[in-house]
Amino acid sequence: MISLTIRRLAGSRAWKPPLARSMVLVRRQARETIPSTPIKVLRTVDAVRKWRKPQVLDHRIVSLVPTMGALHEGHISLIRAAARESHQVVVSIYVNPAQFGIKEDLASYPVTWDNDCKILAKLDRELADDGGNLGRISAVFAPTTNEIYPSGFPGQEVNSKGSFVVMTPISELLEGRTRPTFFRGVATVCLKLFNIVQPEKVYFGQKDVQQTVVIRNMVRDFMLPIDVVVGQTSREPDGLALSSRNVYLGERRRNVATVLNRALKAAEEQYHNGVLDRDTILKAANSVIADTLNEQMALGPEQRVKYEVDYISLADPSTMQEVTNVDPKVGGILSGAVKMLPVEAPQPGEDLGHSDGPAVRLIDNIVLEPSA
Ligand code: PAJ
Repeated sequence: MISLTIRRLAGSRAWKPPLARSMVLVRRQARETIPSTPIKVLRTVDAVRKWRKPQVLDHRIVSLVPTMGALHEGHISLIRAAARESHQVVVSIYVNPAQFGIKEDLASYPVTWDNDCKILAKLDRELADDGGNLGRISAVFAPTTNEIYPSGFPGQEVNSKGSFVVMTPISELLEGRTRPTFFRGVATVCLKLFNIVQPEKVYFGQKDVQQTVVIRNMVRDFMLPIDVVVGQTSREPDGLALSSRNVYLGERRRNVATVLNRALKAAEEQYHNGVLDRDTILKAANSVIADTLNEQMALGPEQRVKYEVDYISLADPSTMQEVTNVDPKVGGILSGAVKMLPVEAPQPGEDLGHSDGPAVRLIDNIVLEPSA
């Protein structure tokens, strides 16, 4: 009689013995998916490993698209490319604190999990309908910082102690000059993600050209059995490179933010006209930057936008070292970073952008293809 009562209670939804309850919780976590999709949400290294193992036995090609979320068309284009060439696509969403400097925008970096899930769900349906794809999005890996840094988070300081991948001299150039811990953070987290997911292919965007070179060098120097695929930069119709950080801009600065792309295009035109020397090529870019700033400074503080140039570079494509002449057999990378300053004299009701429009550092680049 007593055991029957317990069985009845145990069978009802109202009561479960504590052990059974925790097992249900574990099973539910293991089965978490993006709503109304088969896309698994994996949060631990162990869960990824369990998912990954049968793919090896089934000879499935697994690819990884690492992101920090706040997904936009640039990320989507990489996922589409991955689905064309692999059976299983894993998208990681993790805002890696180690690649943000102590004074950078980690706290305000846009986190848009629900919207990211909607974007992935819609994209996965499109991938399913398009017969040209080998695969679809199988899983999102969204770990916590404790999971990614099992010995404890090492910190964001330049002299932080911990287990890091440090790639020099490339990490000290260009972006690395302003952001000394950035590529250490990127290379470290990417090696971890590669070791967790064990992808055959990884997809990165041309938008962050120096990051692609750091990753290629890491894969080569540490003999990682991985193909690095670089997808072209997705842009707004007016040329602005898509970036999760564009939401910080607000309308006034958004309208002027094309200056960097226009400057790089002016320099590219020189190369297409047969010019190979650095000074002439970069002069074209610097003129666009100076002219646009002069136009802005002629406006009143309630209308104008100010910006500062961090660098405009003409570099070798495989080392990112500056060149004095472009070797047409090798080509080059034109790249730049511009800091859009917070607007002066904000107007009543003016859209200042996400987080009240702090300074926004924009980067962009153009590949000068080898001509021979
Ligand atoms: P995140 O800025 O989210 O970018 C993820 C990937 O999307 C990167 O490979 C980036 O180059 C690519 N991407 C961003 N904007 C793009 C655009 N407009 N067109 C094409 N691709 C674009 O880059 C990172 O995250 C992180 O550093 C990461 C690699 C995830 C390591 O934490």
